[in-house]
Amino acid sequence: MNLPNSLIDSPVNNKSMNGKTLEKEYPAYKRYIKNAFDAGQAHIFRWWNEITPSGKENLLNQISSIDFLLIRNLVSDALMNSPQPMQGNITPPQIIPIPESATEKQKAQKARHIGEVSLRKEEVAVLTVAGGDGTRLGIGGPKGTFPIAPITRKSIFQLHAEKILAIQQRYGVCIPWYIMTSETNGTMTQDFFRSHRFFGIDPQQVCFFTQGMLPVVDLQGNLLMDSKSNIVMSPNGHGGVIIALREKGILDDMKRRGIKHIFYHQVDNVLIKIADPVFVGYHLMDHTEMSLKVVKKCHPEEKVGIVANIDGRLQVIEYSELSRDDMYAKGADGTLKYNAGNIAIHMMSIDFLEKVYQNGGAISYHTAIKRVPYLNENGMTIAPENNNAMKFESFIFDILKHVQKSVIMEVLREDEFSPVKNREGENSPETSRQDMINQFGRWLRKAGISIPTDPLGNVLGLIEISPYFALDEEELGNKIDKHMRFNGHLSL
Ligand code: UD1
Repeated sequence: MNLPNSLIDSPVNNKSMNGKTLEKEYPAYKRYIKNAFDAGQAHIFRWWNEITPSGKENLLNQISSIDFLLIRNLVSDALMNSPQPMQGNITPPQIIPIPESATEKQKAQKARHIGEVSLRKEEVAVLTVAGGDGTRLGIGGPKGTFPIAPITRKSIFQLHAEKILAIQQRYGVCIPWYIMTSETNGTMTQDFFRSHRFFGIDPQQVCFFTQGMLPVVDLQGNLLMDSKSNIVMSPNGHGGVIIALREKGILDDMKRRGIKHIFYHQVDNVLIKIADPVFVGYHLMDHTEMSLKVVKKCHPEEKVGIVANIDGRLQVIEYSELSRDDMYAKGADGTLKYNAGNIAIHMMSIDFLEKVYQNGGAISYHTAIKRVPYLNENGMTIAPENNNAMKFESFIFDILKHVQKSVIMEVLREDEFSPVKNREGENSPETSRQDMINQFGRWLRKAGISIPTDPLGNVLGLIEISPYFALDEEELGNKIDKHMRFNGHLSL
């Protein structure tokens, strides 16, 4: 496919605003103005003579942050290569199974011990990526602020914070917590933490940083505006964390604090076992660079990436990039052949990240076709009914291409994975709350307390156990009054 004319010579170029005049008027921005005009994006100055000085400043600042060449290349790639299912020879990876045999259990115990030693040495930091727009949940604010706990309605951020505090207490350590936000939700996230007094965590150990943004373009590659002085921008994907860690001085901060390994997770998973010592231990045991946790997919079309080898190299194949045949392919035992669902929980060594930077640190981008409101050429806001825009996002797991050694650990979905993604249905606040209640129910049952369930196995009633009271079933078993009776409502 050829590049659209708009990218080669925008008609607006000639009509409404002269680039040279603008360059003369704003010498400090000369280079950026030229870049915008050269890239055929002159239409963004269409309303220049109408906008206020602060609007002009905003637009000039925006163009100075945009890599027009990158956008041009991404657009041209997207237009010339229609999305293809992943090519190559796909084979299932080697996975550490959920321990069943005595040997497997022993190995997990050993891993736990190694992980605990590392946690005690304060070598592990937690990194939460929370820069997404959360459009599917549609709450108009950071997803982490969503009130999710079944009884107390504590936010997702509060649950994570309390888990960190509980681990700190258990091991007598301090665990630095790095939270990546975006320009869109960064201020709201920090305000939320401040107004909740950081949920009891020492503010000194929490470090917020923002990821980069990329412009959103229409299906021909023209930058979209949502006001006469504002280009629509979108976070550059969680792979942006790789750039931000270095550019924002986060990696240096980690090194200053003696951190050697990063426990990485997405903000939306309410069952996350933060800094799980067993996972930390497996990662360390084999001197691994980057490790992944996986669960068995719950159905072939579940929207999770799958972890697989492609032509012998470990990768995550995003659900949108897996062919239908591979999605439904069965192994010899009749189960799904590609069944290792990526739950986006990783351990990454600082040394490995250094290697990624030494290799150039380049991240690749994936194109997402979305529906995005915009200002049309008459200055009217249009809420499109169909997809009208391309967003470009990088994915953290693309750095797997730099990995020589990794560990993949299978965990039980009901113990560790319940993300809040959608407003309703699968992976919604309702299912996440039920998953939490069911987990607490299982812990209580293990401790000998009778907990009634419906035919689907869902607990009848409400249960919430604070991470301060118990982080896991073992801790609960040690603390709970074994003679207590569940009356349908329990908050500990
Ligand atoms: C993601 C994974 C998928 C995995 C699933 C598990 C991708 C591309 N896919 O899918 O392989 O199986 O989670 O739940 O990630 N985020 C940022 N900045 C951004 C974009 C996203 O920080 O620019 C954060 C979000 O805040 C969120 C997380 O990344 O915490 C996941 O983003 P989301 O778009 O929900 O990913 P999924 O499509 O659900």
